[in-house]
Amino acid sequence: MLLHIPEVLDAAQLARARSLLAEAPWSDGRVTAGTQSAQVKHNEQLPEGHPATQQLQQIVIDALAASLLFFTAALPKKVFPPMFNRYADAANQFGNHIDNAVRLVQHGAMRGGRVRTDISCTLFLAEPDSYDGGELVIESPEPSVGSQRVKLPAGDLLLYPASTVHRVEPVTRGSRLASFFWIESMVRRDDQRRLLYELDMQILALREAHGDTETIVGLTGTYHNLLRMWAET
Ligand code: NI
Repeated sequence: MLLHIPEVLDAAQLARARSLLAEAPWSDGRVTAGTQSAQVKHNEQLPEGHPATQQLQQIVIDALAASLLFFTAALPKKVFPPMFNRYADAANQFGNHIDNAVRLVQHGAMRGGRVRTDISCTLFLAEPDSYDGGELVIESPEPSVGSQRVKLPAGDLLLYPASTVHRVEPVTRGSRLASFFWIESMVRRDDQRRLLYELDMQILALREAHGDTETIVGLTGTYHNLLRMWAET
């Protein structure tokens, strides 16, 4: 499931993040790439243990914690500590690749732990009119659907299945800044998460229209019983 969650960062969080990013020490993005992806990866990243990175991570983690839509869509069990990248000048693209299935956390409170990457996340941090190119292109596993090209407003989040082949198109003007990270979900399968998300959204819409009727209470029970059947905590 591809899901666009608008305004995960508010204006104040975005401004704070941008000022930290402007001062930050960027380094070659290939340090965290796997063998295949290192050959096609040309961008810059913030060092994972740096104090500026830690402050930026806290901004993102706080924003995720405040987003009900993020919770219901991702059903997060573990969130990989957010990382930050920049595509600009000569380091301006990331060719087709697939994200590693399991990632080791190298720094911070989760250090030494492993995160299974069920969901890939990109939080856009630069306004789309401040750079050219830089679309995130996600190939669908179904050939009839084709690929989807995504470029979102600053502060907006994209969730997509980590199982997909994807790339970042060359940036030909300006800088594309983003945070990227992965979710290990309580519900491992994308199709089950999608069903739960759709059911939850329908229940919310019904509740807004009709209040808590007996039927809606029953449907809410069905949602939780499905989640109980599928969740690993
Ligand atoms: Ni990737």
